[in-house]
Amino acid sequence: MDVVESAAACRETLDRARATGRVVGLVPTMGALHHGHTSLVARARAECDVVAVSIFVNPLQFGDPDDIARYPRTLERDLLVCAGAGADLVFVPPVTEMYPSWPAPPATTVAVRGVSDRWEGASRPGHFDGVATVVSKLFSIAGPCRAYFGLKDFQQLAVVRRMVRDLCLPVEVVGCPTVREADGLALSSRNVRLSGPERRAATVLSGALAAGRAAIATGERSGAAVARAMRAAVAGEPLVDVDYAVAVDAVSLEEAGAIDDPGAVRLLVAAQVGPVRLIDNSGALAAADDTSAAPDGTTQVRQLERIG
Ligand code: PAF
Repeated sequence: MDVVESAAACRETLDRARATGRVVGLVPTMGALHHGHTSLVARARAECDVVAVSIFVNPLQFGDPDDIARYPRTLERDLLVCAGAGADLVFVPPVTEMYPSWPAPPATTVAVRGVSDRWEGASRPGHFDGVATVVSKLFSIAGPCRAYFGLKDFQQLAVVRRMVRDLCLPVEVVGCPTVREADGLALSSRNVRLSGPERRAATVLSGALAAGRAAIATGERSGAAVARAMRAAVAGEPLVDVDYAVAVDAVSLEEAGAIDDPGAVRLLVAAQVGPVRLIDNSGALAAADDTSAAPDGTTQVRQLERIG
């Protein structure tokens, strides 16, 4: 496995692979790798000839300086994880490789209006501009490829898909299932910062999604009523401060009014749990989620890829 810091070296390696007809898979990450990430690398490994992982804690997508300071950095371990998962190349750029003027922000940024504006975008202003900017740079460095993202960050996936379409980027975006602990908590690099009681309380997020799916399964067709059912599922947990719990259109992410087609609806939830902001989401149909145990005992929830 090659580890490179320069964009030129990354591009050259992947150009060479494409020149011999090989398909490149890219897995963009910020490190602190867990089974959610390794599932992306495994999928890329299964579908592509060459697998590149990028590890870059992107300062442009953090509004709060404390948040980026506390973001876990575990590079040595991450490289072992990448090697174990079958990556061929890891791109680990220093901040000035991605943003030469840093700490002055780059003059050119990418904003995907509309889909970036609500939910996470409303609570974290500028976050998705930072994501779109860095992902467009990674795509430009990597060149034509298949790029693997988790459905866990559903709005991020929607932003990236829209950016690829609007900018005609030669990238096929692949959304991959959320990986969950056995009790339903979606894996996240931030989970390590939860205390024992907070970690237990955090399961109400997946409980809210289950409550939303149950409401729809029993015939509820009002988006507002589904959202109320989701909120009710979290209301009794004092350690969880809900930001939003909603049913939305899976493509535009606009709040669902009357739900004509549950298959076109996504349930989203976000909450502050102790020091950590957690997000989760699922399809609206109970039957849309097929659950399988991952080898290490975590639970993998496979969700239909309905968007894009
Ligand atoms: O999901 C992440 O880890 C990041 O937002 C990404 C896509 C690597 C961009 O920094």
